[in-house]
Amino acid sequence: MSQPKDALAAPTHPDPYSFYAELVARRPLFWDESSRMWIASSARAVGAVLTHPACRVRPVTEPVPRALGPGAAAVFRHLVRMNDGPVHCPMKQAVSSFLGGFGERQVREEARRRTRLLGGPERLHSLPFQLPLSVVGRLLGLSEDGLPQVAVWTGDFVRGLAPGADMDRLEAGERAAHGLLEVFRAALAADVAGPLALFARGAERFGAQGREALLANAIGLLSQTHDATAGLLGNTVLALLGQPALRERPGLLPHILDEVLRHDAPVQNTRRFLAEDAVIEGQRLAAGDTVLVILAAANRDPALNEDPHRFDVDRKARRSFTFGAGVHACPGEALVKWMAWGALEELLTADPGLLRAAARGVSYVPSVNGRIPLFQREVRS
Ligand code: HEM
Repeated sequence: MSQPKDALAAPTHPDPYSFYAELVARRPLFWDESSRMWIASSARAVGAVLTHPACRVRPVTEPVPRALGPGAAAVFRHLVRMNDGPVHCPMKQAVSSFLGGFGERQVREEARRRTRLLGGPERLHSLPFQLPLSVVGRLLGLSEDGLPQVAVWTGDFVRGLAPGADMDRLEAGERAAHGLLEVFRAALAADVAGPLALFARGAERFGAQGREALLANAIGLLSQTHDATAGLLGNTVLALLGQPALRERPGLLPHILDEVLRHDAPVQNTRRFLAEDAVIEGQRLAAGDTVLVILAAANRDPALNEDPHRFDVDRKARRSFTFGAGVHACPGEALVKWMAWGALEELLTADPGLLRAAARGVSYVPSVNGRIPLFQREVRS
């Protein structure tokens, strides 16, 4: 099979992993002239970049992408994912404690219930995107009837933020930001005792900006959920398709999910921007440089996991960078695993024909960082 042409094409390549293995072995942290970025791929280099104080989530000269319209920019500038330092820490605490308020049983049951509701011929094509959004939307207290529109807007918002988004996507993202802000403002006004209000109390300490920061981060929870969870569901369906024996052991789902997350990560890379000169893993990086941090390559570094290319649900001491590392590590890890567990146990028991449908064909959603299978629409017979 041909190799991906570069690290940005790798996430949507049928098999990027031999390309990544080559990077890990030969060029764990190097300057790539064609993309004009540093590329970090080994577990050591990825860990070092993600925890280095000079490596920030946004360039200091452009904290908000200039291309964004005013609505999308108003959301982006508050996102916990897009801030470092004093703004990041208290907002991260508010987000983590809000997400920490949900338990396995509640999330798994909600995912099962919604998977049943979202049945139908479009299931495999659209469920990976609709289901996570509707579960997280309900946890945030959004009204049931608005959820399909919220899912569409979240997809538009995410695509509008993606690096290199064209004018159409930027405009759709801008409309989506306005739509989502309205939905959350209305939800907060309508339910002063609901989950969103609880989250709002956590944001009070941010002063005058608190309410806007809260609303932005509620949208951020939806946008962080959207592609990554669809990728996890899709990559797990593909793993089950390739390994029929696993389908006979539904009790293993939590372990299967953990191994899929390591072996075929839905978020393949992230980026860091140098706020000042730094020496990392013996390389001199300069203020203003960008680093592409390939989490999915580090997961398969033999220094991190023994026999890393083998898919092994019984793997002992599994280690993974899929949810990041350091201060920006993902606070949604537990939630997303419960959600995917509930959805897949329902799909596999209620619909044994599901994998036949998956076998009909799959492509990947165009992306420079996500690995998100897109299953063909099912044809009614
Ligand atoms: C399989 C699903 C998911 C994966 C693989 C994933 C992965 C990640 C990664 C790698 C980061 C760190 C990015 C970086 O440091 O550059 C991150 C951050 C984040 N994720 Fe997730 N995520 C997933 C699902 C979720 C869900 C469901 C939520 C919330 C409901 C969520 C909320 C967040 C937030 C708020 C951040 C920003 C944290 C910070 O910057 O401090 N994620 N995620």
